[in-house]
Amino acid sequence: MPLVTTKNMFEKSMKEGFAIGAFNINNMEIIQGIVDAASEKNSPVILQVSSSAIKYARMPYLMKMVEAAVETTNIPIALHLDHGPDFETCKECVDAGFTSVMIDGSKYSFEENVELTKKVVEYAHSKGVVVEAELGKLAGIEDDVNVAANDAMYTDPEQAKEFVERTGCDSLAIAIGTSHGAYKFKGEAKLRFDILQKVKEKIPNTPIVLHGASTVIPELVEMCNKFGGEIPGAKGVPNEMLKEAGKLGVSKINVDTDIRLAVTANIRKVFAEKPSEFDPRKYLSPARDAVKEIVGFKIENVFCSSNKE
Ligand code: G3H
Ligand code: 13P
Ligand code: ZN
Repeated sequence: MPLVTTKNMFEKSMKEGFAIGAFNINNMEIIQGIVDAASEKNSPVILQVSSSAIKYARMPYLMKMVEAAVETTNIPIALHLDHGPDFETCKECVDAGFTSVMIDGSKYSFEENVELTKKVVEYAHSKGVVVEAELGKLAGIEDDVNVAANDAMYTDPEQAKEFVERTGCDSLAIAIGTSHGAYKFKGEAKLRFDILQKVKEKIPNTPIVLHGASTVIPELVEMCNKFGGEIPGAKGVPNEMLKEAGKLGVSKINVDTDIRLAVTANIRKVFAEKPSEFDPRKYLSPARDAVKEIVGFKIENVFCSSNKE
């Protein structure tokens, strides 16, 4: 089956009250781990690439690897640009064959965000590609944009309605207290589900996206630290909260940090336990297996089994 857009996935998700997992990719092992897991669970999946990941892996390599994933599986796969910084990057991805792009105008004023998003929507829609936009600011780090935690700006539900009506975007990322990276909460995890509910009341037919939604899996943090890493006090969004978000109308849940942790923890383990090993396949295989395991777990237990086609 060729690459699909997120349209059908999101329709099903909104009807049945669960979210689809969107996983960040930047190399072969990560792509294989994610796709093998989704394939085994017979679940649709969104593969997403940031602009810095494109720079790292290079567009032709990325496209060929995703093409290989599509050719060797039977599940619906969408290829999505994560945090598109400008019109040009979105256009490049649309032209390269992505089925979905995000234009992240959240760093701009409301009016500038509307204008930029409209421009991307117009181009993407003319090529059959769907567009995710963002309104409100997440705490933490988004690509090279650093938003101080206390500047985090929750999404205004009324503005969300106006934004979607004026831009024609297909889905909307909102800020309800999540943040990117491994340090999401100092104390208790807390998300503003009240804001999510109000947004959903205003735009019930628009799929909602949750960024910064890694669990920051404690076992992986522990494993990293045990084998020489230094990521103390890392904390993410508990699985129960992610399930709740799905029930309340979140259709897409973004995961990158958990994949990074799975890869790094497992490579560290091999390096620590077998210092004489220098065949990359010997440490990249367990890393790939670990990506498959955590993605499989999430699809089965967090993104709900009704995820299956
Ligand atoms: O939301 C950001 C993603 O985790 C991508 O991060 O720009 O370091 O690839 P990156
Ligand atoms: P995490 O850092 O929580 O994995 O979030 C990833 C993300 O939002 C990608 O856009
Ligand atoms: Zn994000």
